[in-house]
Amino acid sequence: MARTFAPTTDPDALRAAREVADAVPDRSVLGLGTGTTFAAILVRLGERIASEGLRISGVPTSEATAEQARQIGIALVSPRPLSLAIDGADEVDPEGNLLKGGGGALVREKIVAQSAKELWIVVSPKKLVPRLGATFRLPIEIVRFGHELTVERIARLLPDATLRTKDGQPVESDNGGYLVDATLESAPTMRLADALKSIVGVVDHGLFLRVAPTVVWVGREGRVERLDLRA
Ligand code: A5P
Repeated sequence: MARTFAPTTDPDALRAAREVADAVPDRSVLGLGTGTTFAAILVRLGERIASEGLRISGVPTSEATAEQARQIGIALVSPRPLSLAIDGADEVDPEGNLLKGGGGALVREKIVAQSAKELWIVVSPKKLVPRLGATFRLPIEIVRFGHELTVERIARLLPDATLRTKDGQPVESDNGGYLVDATLESAPTMRLADALKSIVGVVDHGLFLRVAPTVVWVGREGRVERLDLRA
């Protein structure tokens, strides 16, 4: 059964999520992210659909998001070029590079993020880190065939790479792949990103480097801040 995400209860993430959902224009076709922050965005969009008759369609990045979106009246469409995708992240560095995949949806999230002209990333301020990997291990999706060999290959680059398991069983992504988590001992580079991607069994990893998002969070003054990192 697909994993589900309860909306975040982090008050800062919740406020930013609601403000972002309030900024979504009628008739938008959105990239729909995954995770507890995005689940809160969907709750607010659902309220607007019910009260304002807002019409939204979108490309979901996980089965969990697809299910929640369907329930609130968002029409699901197939992957396509988009004006805007909205998502959460596990970490954001000062340049707007992202670490994602804690929820296991990184491959679809990356495909959708790449297909969108604009990417809004909504986070709690605790996700703003001095360098990626400071608080979170890097998720990587791999194919099941030969997964032990692929984990070994990844461990040549990131020595503590381990298969993500639950109740003793490998955790499966919506794509039927397995997930691996690995500690980043120093700030990740494009070189590391490319080296991981060049391992045959790796589908993709949770490093979203140079994606130039607009980051949305609640700042020190208690205001919702937006930092547009394009250009
Ligand atoms: C899903 O694979 C992740 O990339 C999520 O988008 C990210 O982990 C943010 O999740 P939360 O909003 O639940 O923290």
